[in-house]
Amino acid sequence: MRTIAIIAAVAANGAIGFKGGIPWDSPEDRAIFARKTANGVLVCGNATADELVEACKTRMNGRTIVCIADGKFWEQWDLSMSGWIEEGTYSIEAIAAHYPDRNVWICGGSRLYAEAMRNSLVTEMHISHMDGFPDADTFFPRFDTSGGLRGIVAGGSRWDVVSTVDGKGFSHRVYRRI
Ligand SMILES: NC(=O)c1ccc[n+]([C@@H]2O[C@H](COP(=O)([O-])OP(=O)(O)OC[C@H]3O[C@@H](n4cnc5c(N)ncnc54)[C@H](OP(=O)(O)O)[C@@H]3O)[C@@H](O)[C@H]2O)c1
Repeated sequence: MRTIAIIAAVAANGAIGFKGGIPWDSPEDRAIFARKTANGVLVCGNATADELVEACKTRMNGRTIVCIADGKFWEQWDLSMSGWIEEGTYSIEAIAAHYPDRNVWICGGSRLYAEAMRNSLVTEMHISHMDGFPDADTFFPRFDTSGGLRGIVAGGSRWDVVSTVDGKGFSHRVYRRI
């Protein structure tokens, strides 16, 4: 069965972005992202889309990048408007229905993550918890970690930890909505 999941790398202060980029450089985390998202549909806001297009252009590996802009969703494969195709009016439901057999990865930024956390179609969060407190201007929505290693509360739901992999300077956890 296909999965609809959030994927993010989040520092200890909640940071995800700074000046249009990622505030750290972790090849190991990028490799996890690349492995998990191969053949998937990557959904993101239009600031993140340009970055993803640049990062994936030489190795799309079956990925489709879907950008949200102006209340619509678009497939995007280059940085010019000629590389965009409008697919429909945006909602997570509409994107899920448009790509019925494919894993859908919600790739940020902030607003999309917050919306996805509240949407029950989104059943997993794959989060790399990065060490440190980098300078940042873009943040992941707040979540409550008082459940410790067992799980978190986010977007009004409880999410249990189903797996953890430790990397250099980060811990990658998969959470499932319960
Ligand atoms: N660490 C990570 O895992 C991670 C992941 C993603 C991004 N980032 C970082 O975060 C920063 C970019 O994120 P961001 O939050 O600033 O921007 P973003 O979400 O990528 O793009 C913002 C724009 O996308 C459109 N949009 C986004 N969500 C929407 C929604 N739910 N509904 C309708 N339209 C939506 C809107 O455009 P219109 O107003 O034109 O319609 C909005 O102005 C960068 O620094 C990037 O590197 C980090």
